[in-house]
Amino acid sequence: MARITNVRFEHYHAPNTLGVEEICPRISWNYEDILTDFEQIAYELEVSEVSEPSKLTVISTTKLSSSASYLVPWPHSSPALVSRQRAAVRVRAWDQAENATAWSCHTYLEVGLLSRNDWHCKRIAAPWGPHASPGPDTEELYRKEFHLDISTLSSIIKARLYITAQGVYEAEINGKRVGDHFMAPGWTAYDGRLQYQTYNVGGMLVPGANCIGVRVAEGWFCGRIGFEGGHRNIWGEHTALLVQMEITLDSGEVLMVLSDGSWKVAKGPIRLAEIYDGEKYDARKEIPGWSSSAEIDNDDALWEPVLEILDLSDSVTLTAGFGEPVRHIEAIKPVSKIITPSGKVVLDFGQNLVGHVHLSNINGMPGDKITLSHAEVLEHGELCTRPLRICKAIDKYILRGTLDEEYAPRFTFHGFRYAQVDGWTGDSDSLFNSTRAIVCHSDMRPAGEFSCSHPLVNKLYSNIVWSMRGNFLSVPTDCPQRDERLGWSGDLALFAPTAVLLYDCFNFLKNWLIDLEHDQIVLGGVPAMVTPNATLPDPVWCRRVPCAIWHDVTILAPWALYEETGDESILAQQYHSMVTWMSKVPRNSSGATSLWETSVFNLGDWLDPSAPPSAPWKGSTDARLVANAFLIHSLSLMIKISHILDQPTDTTHFSTWHASAISEFRNEYITPTGRLVSDSQTAYALAIVFNLLKLSQIPHAADRLVYLVRKNSFCIGTGFAGTPYICEALAQTGHLNVAYGMLLNEKCPSWLYPVTMGATTVWERWDSMLPDGSINEGEMTSFNHYAFGAIARFLYERVAGLRRVEAGWKRFGVSPGVIGGLPFSEATAEHVCPFGTVRCRWVAEEVEVEDTDGEDKYRIKLQVSVPYGTTCEVFIPDGGGVRKELVGPGERSFESLFVDDGSWPVEALPPKS
Ligand code: BGC
Repeated sequence: MARITNVRFEHYHAPNTLGVEEICPRISWNYEDILTDFEQIAYELEVSEVSEPSKLTVISTTKLSSSASYLVPWPHSSPALVSRQRAAVRVRAWDQAENATAWSCHTYLEVGLLSRNDWHCKRIAAPWGPHASPGPDTEELYRKEFHLDISTLSSIIKARLYITAQGVYEAEINGKRVGDHFMAPGWTAYDGRLQYQTYNVGGMLVPGANCIGVRVAEGWFCGRIGFEGGHRNIWGEHTALLVQMEITLDSGEVLMVLSDGSWKVAKGPIRLAEIYDGEKYDARKEIPGWSSSAEIDNDDALWEPVLEILDLSDSVTLTAGFGEPVRHIEAIKPVSKIITPSGKVVLDFGQNLVGHVHLSNINGMPGDKITLSHAEVLEHGELCTRPLRICKAIDKYILRGTLDEEYAPRFTFHGFRYAQVDGWTGDSDSLFNSTRAIVCHSDMRPAGEFSCSHPLVNKLYSNIVWSMRGNFLSVPTDCPQRDERLGWSGDLALFAPTAVLLYDCFNFLKNWLIDLEHDQIVLGGVPAMVTPNATLPDPVWCRRVPCAIWHDVTILAPWALYEETGDESILAQQYHSMVTWMSKVPRNSSGATSLWETSVFNLGDWLDPSAPPSAPWKGSTDARLVANAFLIHSLSLMIKISHILDQPTDTTHFSTWHASAISEFRNEYITPTGRLVSDSQTAYALAIVFNLLKLSQIPHAADRLVYLVRKNSFCIGTGFAGTPYICEALAQTGHLNVAYGMLLNEKCPSWLYPVTMGATTVWERWDSMLPDGSINEGEMTSFNHYAFGAIARFLYERVAGLRRVEAGWKRFGVSPGVIGGLPFSEATAEHVCPFGTVRCRWVAEEVEVEDTDGEDKYRIKLQVSVPYGTTCEVFIPDGGGVRKELVGPGERSFESLFVDDGSWPVEALPPKS
């Protein structure tokens, strides 16, 4: 009998459902163990209130005749949830023969504090703020004791800690760490939104004296952050803390422990906590028992009363946020120990990653100092820190002088593969065994897998996943190591369609897009170049200058989320932002009026390999052509989006604009036969994929693209703008073999060149490291930028051949990317879509057959998994053509013989979504 699994609210995953901002969450579920003819004809939702950990009171039971199992509405008969309410839902369903499934397991969700009126605490700060000094400040330790007698303790049914800081914080209760978030409360546009977190602290309370302690450091809020060295105090001049602990007793009484003027504050052992420069921890300055009620050093010079400062401005929304918290995801052991030519000890973790080092078994004298310096690469055998620019990336630990000390930074993170350790007092074997790299990022659910018969391509795929991991830390960033780590919108605009295939990043990006719109409103309608807008204090160009691609993120990112999930709510949420941006695109004031104003500077095909290292915008493709291609692409999406959201006037407006823009584009940039005035890979790729050509022009344009690729010896000639589309353009026009020629090329510039150079993440530049191992002289050289990793989408969709046909995967296609000569003899892709896991795996081999007139013949075996709720169009290479089958849920296998001369026929490809 069919089994209901994975019941969930909106786009949340356990354990991230405590303290959410939802009042009528939609509900989804999947099926397992279905028979092939199973059809859901009705479902029943049972909503219960959870009044104590194990007591469920049914609020409503709603049965509906419906085949829907994804994002079904909150039942009408259940009142909207209110602040602090905890609900449980379970589901059962009926099939066409009226057989009911068993009830699913219960799924839980708890609402956070929905209104400012729910907050009763004061915002507190250390009396020595605001920071007058230009340099960074030490962390602050806040503490408050409270008493719970034994009878009170035994009558507690629920205890929650609602907490946030302007800065970054870690809380402890009675000496134990609360929760497992890293760099909480995360980075948002702090002038508009501040996230708080909710923790279940019931099990941490004890009879008698209790203590809550919170350490707060500057973080993104007032630490140095930004572009070209950044600024301090962008969102405020001092850190602050808001704490509200609510202890609910079985009588209904709620005891509150609130941040207020009765709290004490002291300077903590973290003497420096900076995102760029790193952390300095002086263990001699620890205050033993600082977060417990045990006797502590009550030296008044140490502990001072806090300041109650003005309540948080009403213009700042206190929000639970939507993105998953940043956590310690994985610990990695070093793979080797290197003694550098200058005699330094460097540990190699074998993987460029983002997080920090964890040291244990530290032994030495009080005051001994261990220094950890980080870098992504070595140059001339030494740590190469030049690409970090104005960023030290150094953590220092000063020993307490006791046995087996341990250290890991709390309020900083680095992008590194290598860590140089100075001052280790033990032998180098003990260092090797006592060191781990802790990988940190937003704790999104992995959503995809890809592998194939080509080891270098598999490594490329792994590098792309690692670059996404490294740059999805609270917000989507450009790079995680140097003095930027900013939410550069263009990088995300181009990578979002790939990102959604690798991880479930719906909530992560939904959260960031809210900030994006906030920054956009502050700047009068033109989005910021980076969100959160750390360029606010800069009078420079990145404040309020319209920029194609970077600002098209307003449309491209929500569209990627919609395509992946079919969830129109994200389009509705961002519609105002999209329409506002479109109204701000500066249009040509003379002559043609539907395209970009020609005098506006655009970044164009950023980092085209032919651009000089110091001027990445000077690529071979006209930057205006690139800007206009993206404008037309955005317009075509706005036609669809306004239609989906039923905005007919806007649909007409965008359709008219799109028609005239495309006509002006053709007049300006395309010859009657289909040549582009910028005779470049990017120009043709964009023209083909964005449908800028007339049908009659496509073959000529495609031939020209193939010619350019061959002329360039299959090397890449694209930057940020063209890279996501070049292979797809070739595949769409029947040149999959040429696309494979580019994909499998190992000469620089290519996707595999960095892999052959030992890369473990995607580089910012095609040649961040030069063939002789030296590092590109360009002042902007990172080894961890996801933009060029957009090719992972091609791996899924064209090599493995698994692609979405309808938004949300209700219909998907499988079309093995097998071609004659078998550059790939097998490929597998799987993806967790809203309905379950879609999967395809194919294996091909050459077979000896006598009667094929010298043509090569191959056998292909294909397996496809189709979850309930989806339909799959399978394209099976067969003979000299392609056989199409439409299949429903279940596991399917296909086998056929096919003939191929090396060119994969375009009709074999499933239609695009
Ligand atoms: C970033 C890029 C970004 C660009 C735009 C760089 O410094 O690292 O990824 O998009 O600036 O100017």
